This record gives sequence, structure tokens and C-alpha cells, in this order.
Amino acid sequence: MIPTKGRSDLSDHANSWWTDYTEVSLQSLPPSRLWSLKLLNNVVETKDGYTLGHCRRVQDYARALGEALGLSDQQLSNLLIAATFHDIGKVGIISAILNKPGPLDAFQWQVIYMHPVLGRELWEGSVPRLIEVARIIHQHHERWDGDGYPQGLAGEDIRPEARVLGVVDAYDAMCSDRPYRPALSDSVVLDELYAGAGGQFDPEAAGLFIDIIQDRKLKAA
Ligand SMILES: [Fe+2]
Repeated sequence: MIPTKGRSDLSDHANSWWTDYTEVSLQSLPPSRLWSLKLLNNVVETKDGYTLGHCRRVQDYARALGEALGLSDQQLSNLLIAATFHDIGKVGIISAILNKPGPLDAFQWQVIYMHPVLGRELWEGSVPRLIEVARIIHQHHERWDGDGYPQGLAGEDIRPEARVLGVVDAYDAMCSDRPYRPALSDSVVLDELYAGAGGQFDPEAAGLFIDIIQDRKLKAA
């Protein structure tokens, strides 16, 4: 489905998720492989209007939180690539489910649960030398309390980069209009982050991210 924002917005945002950092991190790939990955991410943006700009914002938040947590340069590099491509598996999910303007039924949720698996498989097949990125993509919907998907991993069994991605992806989703609800207010989003620390989110990552967004709001005021 073409995003409701219209074609001009689509072309404006066609590579909105592609940053210099991504370019540098993946520059050793054969050009045709890089082009294919860009194309797949653009297909996801076209199918799922929500992802317009989402990947770039998630990259920005992930970099800030990853640095605050003291991740290594290699972890940061993998995290930012995974942030760019975390939803690439949605290329295999039908638009009618991605854009359903109401609650999903049990079967539709099972389909959604497949996108981290499809994303891991796509990445493994495309860039096997960056296997760690595939693992982060696979784990980006796991939860600290073990109630996530697709594997139900918990706590430190989830890779630190995936725990970062879990916080910042959820934050951007809450701040965005979705087919089934409008964007949540700043105060509600903050309450959700506090409430989710130690449940949905790694408590250290959630706490640091709250500090980051409050600091940014202060500077912007
Ligand atoms: Fe996702």
C-alpha cells in the first residue's frame, strides 16, 4: 500500500533511513548487494507507511543510547546497521496486516511475529560476514521479562544491542501515529518507559534513555 502521505512525500523519504554511518559500515559490500538491501528497505517503507523516517530516527536514538551504555565500536557499528534494517523482514508480511486500522487477531499476530525471523534469514543470506547484525535483527522484539518474540529470551540472554533497539524502537512507535491509534503524548510515552523498565525493557537502558530524551527536550526548549 502506498503511504497515505502521498507520492511526493514517498520520494522525499525514499532513502530517509540511509545515513553516512550506514554507508561507511557497509561500503565493503559489492555494490549490487548494497543496492539490493536498499531496495528491500525501500519496499518495506512503501508497504508500511509507518516506517517512513522511522529507521533513521531509531538509528539516531540507538547511537545516543548505545554510546551512553558504553557499547564498543564494533557493537555500535552492528547496532546502527541493525537499526537501519531491523524491520526488513516486513517485506514478507502482507500490507493488509501491516496497515490494519484496528486490533490484530491471533493469526495476524502470528504473521507479525515472523518478521524478525524473516529479517534474520534475509540478512544471513545477504551479508553472512555480519552474522551479529542478523542476531540483533532476530532479537529486536524480545523483552527483558521474557514475554517478547520470537524466542521468548529474557534479561541478559538478549544481546545488549537488541536491548537498546527494543527501547528505542518502542519509543519511536509510541511517538508515531499508527493505523490503529494516534501518537501518544510526551507524558504518556515517558510513563510507559518508566513502567516498562525491568518489564518490557532492560532497566538500565530504559533509565538512560529517559535521561537522554529529557535532556534533549530541555535543550530544545
Ligand atoms: Fe519490528
